[in-house]
Amino acid sequence: MKIGTPKEVDQGEARVAMTPDSARQLQKLGYDCLIEAGAGEKAGFSDKLYEDAGVTVVDGADALWTQADIIAKVNTPADDELDRVVKGKTLISFFNPGGNPERLKRAAELGGNVIAMEAVPRISRAQKMDALSSMANIAGYRAVIEAGNNFGRFFTGQITAAGKVPPAKVLVVGAGVAGLAAIGTSTSLGAITYAFDVRPEVAEQVESMGAEFVFLDFEEEAQDGAATGGYASVQSEEFRNAQLAKFREIAPDMDIVITTALIPNRPAPKLWTEDMVAAMKPGSVIVDLAAPAGGNVEGTVKDEKIVTENGVTIIGYTDFASRMATQSSTLYATNIRHMMTDLTPEKDGQINHNMDDDVIRGATVAFEGAVTFPPPPPKVQAIAAQKKEKPKELTAEEKRAKEVAEFKAQTKNQVTLLAVGAALILGVALIPGMPASFMQHFIVFVLSVFIGFQVIWNVAHSLHTPLMAVTNAISSIIILGALIQIGSTSMLITILAAAGIFMASVNIFGGFLVTRRMLAMFQKS
Ligand code: NAI
Repeated sequence: MKIGTPKEVDQGEARVAMTPDSARQLQKLGYDCLIEAGAGEKAGFSDKLYEDAGVTVVDGADALWTQADIIAKVNTPADDELDRVVKGKTLISFFNPGGNPERLKRAAELGGNVIAMEAVPRISRAQKMDALSSMANIAGYRAVIEAGNNFGRFFTGQITAAGKVPPAKVLVVGAGVAGLAAIGTSTSLGAITYAFDVRPEVAEQVESMGAEFVFLDFEEEAQDGAATGGYASVQSEEFRNAQLAKFREIAPDMDIVITTALIPNRPAPKLWTEDMVAAMKPGSVIVDLAAPAGGNVEGTVKDEKIVTENGVTIIGYTDFASRMATQSSTLYATNIRHMMTDLTPEKDGQINHNMDDDVIRGATVAFEGAVTFPPPPPKVQAIAAQKKEKPKELTAEEKRAKEVAEFKAQTKNQVTLLAVGAALILGVALIPGMPASFMQHFIVFVLSVFIGFQVIWNVAHSLHTPLMAVTNAISSIIILGALIQIGSTSMLITILAAAGIFMASVNIFGGFLVTRRMLAMFQKS
């Protein structure tokens, strides 16, 4: 079969759904590849590069749509494009199936099969085909770069001869794919980054990326992510009020705000209100990634950059991914290629449209004359919805049985240790000619080893590393022993005891100093 990619018809779209690299992989699956002349130009892929990769360059959209059996493109097809998806053809592209019922009906009437890239379920196996995520990742990155471009200061704090520069404070609202990418970019540029999301489970991810999660003083029933395919659901009015109150409190302190909050197939919630914009300092920048769905910010103008009366720049572009066309085309083409790999299990250049496969079923929105959207819920849980296994609650009886078992195991260990010690002492005592004074010292030595062992291993290392806790315990025992000996009548013993106390103290305090330094390396001033 032939797979072809036309030039995108949307004004200003620079992405392309096939790259020379992805074409090479598609050919390995047995397909012949076609591309409309000039389709990759804006993304940095010339016709020559495609030819070198074994792709046939076709003149004009008409020829391409006629010759190709499978058409891979980026944006939702225009009306005349959709009319060409007739019986026997398969279209793979973004389609906005949730907001496009008329188009879906039309596709079903025409009899072609349509795979919508935004309908790929968010399950682990489908991550490599998740084009929404790969585009949102780029948008999150680019949002920070765009904000930096419009912000008159450094992201990172600096102390220079000409003065001290405070670090920029960045707030990311919505820590989904775009939000996390924005957080990663912002922290790596050195800004102090804060993030908020309605899904509390992302707090850990946010913090692991070096940002601070903004917690609300509010208790809300935890969301059941499984019911929403791993996406957020609508919040209660009380929650929203608490959220807005928190934002109002921190707004004057933020230099850059990046909003990405979205609930699929709904208008974006208004989270950054006019008074918050007004409370920000002149020169601050807001990037509203949710602009395609109406925006999270009051005052966002879709596709435009505006500056408010108080000097705050609000960016409402909807083409962030297209602004990095080489990168986004490469990732999108790879997503398509993985989808084709799943559709071609035999690698024979023939589509096997297996509607029993969770991913293929989920993404197919029109199949053999019928609308197949929305799909049934996938058999596998969405990634974000997978819950961590909670440790099983034990009954009182089970708890007691567990304690008894632990006590028995501990006693067994100690008895074994004592038995080994006793056997050793007996063995030494049986050696002919062993002086009685040696035996006395030897017994004290064995008992101190036993007690020392118990003391050291029972130290709780809640504040420091296990290694430090153990070495500190050993050093403390040394100090105790040396203190007992320091008052000895023998000068040599006194000197040795003093040296022992000194060395052990160096070990203890040095350990604390090193730990402090190590911790300081991970702390922002
Ligand atoms: P996502 O669904 O992974 O993330 C959205 C996040 O917003 C979720 O974590 C969700 O829990 C959170 N959220 C929902 N309601 C919230 C609320 N009231 N308060 C705080 N957080 C809330 O979506 P993804 O893929 O990260 O995309 C984010 C946005 O970026 C979308 O609006 C998408 O359309 C947009 N986007 C924009 C582009 C552009 O060029 N402007 C390009 C690509 C994506």
